[in-house]
Amino acid sequence: SRRLIVAIDGPAGAGKSTVARHLAAHFGLLNLETGAMYRAFALKAMRTHTSLDNAEALGRLAAGTSIGLEPTPSGNRVVLDGEDVTGQVREPEVTQAASKVSIHPTIRTWMVDLQRALGAAGGVVMEGRDIGTVVFPDADLKFFLDASPEARSQRRYEQSGGATAGEATPEAVLKELRERDQRDRNRAESPLRPAEDAILIDSTSLTLDQVLARIESIVQERV
Ligand code: C5P
Repeated sequence: SRRLIVAIDGPAGAGKSTVARHLAAHFGLLNLETGAMYRAFALKAMRTHTSLDNAEALGRLAAGTSIGLEPTPSGNRVVLDGEDVTGQVREPEVTQAASKVSIHPTIRTWMVDLQRALGAAGGVVMEGRDIGTVVFPDADLKFFLDASPEARSQRRYEQSGGATAGEATPEAVLKELRERDQRDRNRAESPLRPAEDAILIDSTSLTLDQVLARIESIVQERV
């Protein structure tokens, strides 16, 4: 079980992070959230006023950037050039910027190399968009978590604290999510799609516990 590599892919708001965190805790695996790495780099691009469309400039920026991911029981700590940016990378502007920087092949190659190094020893649940297709095509188990856009944006809205947390309305969350989906699914370089051998789980009408129970019973057979 030490060497197990579990890939969890899917669109935003499908519940990947929550599922990956619980799964990792249950089986004593490390949980790695690759989206946080794209988010950290997007934050750096914003801070340095680097154009999110300029692949060459972003490539130069990446060459001088270090990104670390540290699993903790409550999620990943994200470290950008030595600074803890865990909270900042969740800001809405960073979220959209992450999906923009992630379309560039140079940036993806760099990230994929880092992610392979992080997961190489095994004993990991790695979560993202291209883990089963590109980062670890030979992963022991691949899950593709999906749900309707409405269900995903509703969960996002509730997670963020709903109306009490700020100006975001459920409609605004849905719009943001659709934009990001569109970019993630239609980019030329490793678009979001299930690997051929991925187990598809549609959680639209399932609770977290039901999704977890299904995934845990499948993983249990492999540990
Ligand atoms: O998963 P999360 O919402 O944190 O990811 C932020 C963005 O990073 C995604 O919308 C996607 O564009 C990009 N991403 C990616 N490949 C991954 C993980 C995230 O392209 N493996």
